[in-house]
Amino acid sequence: CGIVGCIGCENIVDYLIEGLKELEYRGYDSAGVAIKDKNEIKVIKAVGKLKNLEDKIKKVKFKKPKYGIGHTRWATHGKPTEINAHPHKGEFSAVVHNGIIENYQELKKKLKKDGVEFISQTDTEVIVKLFEANYKGDAKEAFKKTIKMLDGAYAILLITKKAPNAIFFAKKGSPLIVAKAENGFYFASSDAPLIGYANEAHYLEDDEWGWVDNEIHLYRDCEVISPYFKALPTNKESAKKGGFRFYMEKEIYEQFEVLKENTLGRNTKEGIKFEEVDKKFFEGINNIIISACGTSYHAGLVGKYLIERDAKIRVNVEVASELRYREPLLSQDTLFIVISQSGETADTLETLKMAKKAGLKTLALCNVDNSSIVREADKTILLRAGIEKGVASTKAFATQVMTLWMLSNYLANKNEYYAINEAIEVTKVDTSLHEKIKRLSKRYTKGHGFFYIGRDIFFPLALEGALKLKEISYIHAEGYPAGEMKHGPIALADPDLYVVALLSKNILFDKTKSNIEELVARDATVLTISSEYIEMTDDFIRINETNHPMVEFFEMMVITQLLAMEVAIRMGNDVDMPRNLAKSVTVE
Ligand code: G6P
Repeated sequence: CGIVGCIGCENIVDYLIEGLKELEYRGYDSAGVAIKDKNEIKVIKAVGKLKNLEDKIKKVKFKKPKYGIGHTRWATHGKPTEINAHPHKGEFSAVVHNGIIENYQELKKKLKKDGVEFISQTDTEVIVKLFEANYKGDAKEAFKKTIKMLDGAYAILLITKKAPNAIFFAKKGSPLIVAKAENGFYFASSDAPLIGYANEAHYLEDDEWGWVDNEIHLYRDCEVISPYFKALPTNKESAKKGGFRFYMEKEIYEQFEVLKENTLGRNTKEGIKFEEVDKKFFEGINNIIISACGTSYHAGLVGKYLIERDAKIRVNVEVASELRYREPLLSQDTLFIVISQSGETADTLETLKMAKKAGLKTLALCNVDNSSIVREADKTILLRAGIEKGVASTKAFATQVMTLWMLSNYLANKNEYYAINEAIEVTKVDTSLHEKIKRLSKRYTKGHGFFYIGRDIFFPLALEGALKLKEISYIHAEGYPAGEMKHGPIALADPDLYVVALLSKNILFDKTKSNIEELVARDATVLTISSEYIEMTDDFIRINETNHPMVEFFEMMVITQLLAMEVAIRMGNDVDMPRNLAKSVTVE
């Protein structure tokens, strides 16, 4: 989602619209603004593309807009409807919010008991209702008290008639920036909207809050602090990419944040919780079929290993374009899961329709709310990856695998709270490792092809690693079960055959190591990724030691993504828009 705000400037309405346009790539299922105009707070919202909101705003006559806030939404709680769109209003205030309020249900329950009414399904509405309940004559106190009561992640802007000429702000876990211009202040959740409106900005840190009127009043907890204004970047396109060379690179780096969002409120110390489904939904299920395409299919394969091992439910993973024409046997005790980033992939959608027709229960793991697949499925668990721009999927894959891991915990009544958090932690990109991969990539641009090898969950990761590489570098690459190489592909081994070996310390270490030895003996050029150093291979990337294979999985995932990207960049390719590929394939 994206946030904007503005106070004291001439061009308030223009900035809110233009700013939201810059942020539209972050979420576009609905948008809205709240503008203080004379004594009124005017709230205007629209579902769908920003153009719809812009058209609506054009029809509104403003008298003297003083300040305003705006939001473009990517649904996490509640459907993309006008009611669920931000800003959310109370009786005398309005709020926009990015992030997730983890304890919103608790707070909502309390407020409801006191007679407060709610109209939306969002966690955000709680903020404005709580603020108004806390208001006892001093808006600053009420705001301070309110943010203290919130758990989770947020970037918040709030306006209220009780403090005319002020915008309140707070940040924890989600980005928020306040920029200073000659006559006023601008807010945005990333710097792209601010470029051209202001020259310098304070990038808020976690736990900072305060308000702006004619000046900025900044606090960390209860302590007054000084803002640190620094120059804003001047290039919009690179600002949108957050300073990274490609969206794909930005998305790889984002995985750490995105996975936190994906697991927020779901991975709890008491076990896995899904708001979207309950145990009853899974009653009577003896089989699972997972249907998907491309990267999403690879995530599904990881799910099979996890669910069968832990929950003891039989899982078949199917490529959707095959499944839809092969007249499969669909029994009523089967749960049909579709996995899709876009929610629009034609083959996946058709298999979902087929399963529904056969009377199966259906569940979608999807990144786009209100997409065709979400509308069709009985239940959906949203991936919360934010918009993925790079055609080669990275962060969506990470959230798909994570969601399947949580689902397998859920079905098995298993609690891996700490391991899940550890796995998120290792996706934080270490820049010196990235540098090493950049250097290593030199060696891997020639040759006659790649094999990625692994066993167990590292086999689907090998498939995905190879797919990443071929999608953007156009080099032939295959993922293979490490133990299967001897049954054919090893015939290709020579110094110009490159092998990326995913060597887990926790699963079948010795067996995989022997497979690597077999390739080394035949002179293949091998890069090993492991926490245990092995001398025999040409290159080695060390990962953290851990006793959980999924932690190894997520760290290796990041490495394979970076390797594919660096090889492709070295070859001069546009990694965001590889030739012949589309982000969303809505044809057969
Ligand atoms: C296209 C994309 C792939 C993606 C696949 C499935 O081929 O290029 O990156 O994995 O579709 O897409 P979905 O949106 O259903 O996950």
